[in-house]
Amino acid sequence: MADIYGGYAPILHNIAVELQNKINGYADACMKERGEKLFEHLSWRLKTPESMEDKCRRDGLEPCPRSALKKVHDSIGIRIVCLFIDDIYRNIEEIKKLPGCHVVLEKDFISAAKPNGYRSYHMILEAESPAKDIDGNTPGLYFAELQLRTIAMDTWAALEHELKYKKDIKHPELISEELKRCAGELAACDVSLQTIRELIRQ
Ligand code: GTP
Ligand code: MG
Repeated sequence: MADIYGGYAPILHNIAVELQNKINGYADACMKERGEKLFEHLSWRLKTPESMEDKCRRDGLEPCPRSALKKVHDSIGIRIVCLFIDDIYRNIEEIKKLPGCHVVLEKDFISAAKPNGYRSYHMILEAESPAKDIDGNTPGLYFAELQLRTIAMDTWAALEHELKYKKDIKHPELISEELKRCAGELAACDVSLQTIRELIRQ
C-alpha cells in the first residue's frame, strides 16, 4: 500500500535539499564577503509517514496525501541553529529574499515565548518545484516549516522534548516550573552573549 505521501516523498526530499542549498548559498556568500558565520548548523527531516498519519488524526484531518501535502505544513522541517539572537533575524531577512519560495506564516516565540518557556522563530514557507503538485499546479507548490533558534534555545527544546515523552515523572508541576525557570536563564544568557559579541566587535 502506498504511504500517506502518495508517491510525493521523493519530491519533498528534493525540495528540502534545494532549500538547504539555497540557505547554505546565502550563508556561504556572507562568509566570503564579510567573514561572518550566519548560523552554526542546519538540519532537516521529512516527517515519517507514521507521524504524519498521527498528526492528521490529531488535527481531525483525513489521513490522505492531500492532507499531508496541502493541509499539514511541516512534512519538511528545517532547523537553523545560530550562535547569537541577532543572527536569527539576519537569517529571516535572507530567507524572505530567497527565489522560488515565499513566507506564508511567521510565529515569533522569541519575542513572546510559549507559556512553558519554549523559544524559537517559526516560518512556514511555500516552495516552488518543477514537479507538479497534487492539485496539478506547475510549478508545484509545497510547504516547509523552518525553525530558527540559538544553541541555548535548541538545547532547552531537546531536553523538554525528551521529558514530554517520559510518562512516569514524579512531581510533574515542579519539573515544568524548573524547566521554565531554566528557559528564562538561558534566554538571559543569550542576551549576555549577544552583548559580549558586540563588545568584542567594537
Ligand atoms: P504542531 O505542534 O507541530 O502540531 O503544530 P503547531 O501548529 O502547533 O505549530 P507550532 O509552531 O506550535 O510547533 C511546531 C513545531 O515546533 C513542533 O512540531 C516542535 O518541533 C516545535 N515546538 C513547538 N512547541 C514546542 C515546545 O513546547 N517544546 C518543544 N520541544 N518543541 C516545540
Ligand atoms: Mg504545537
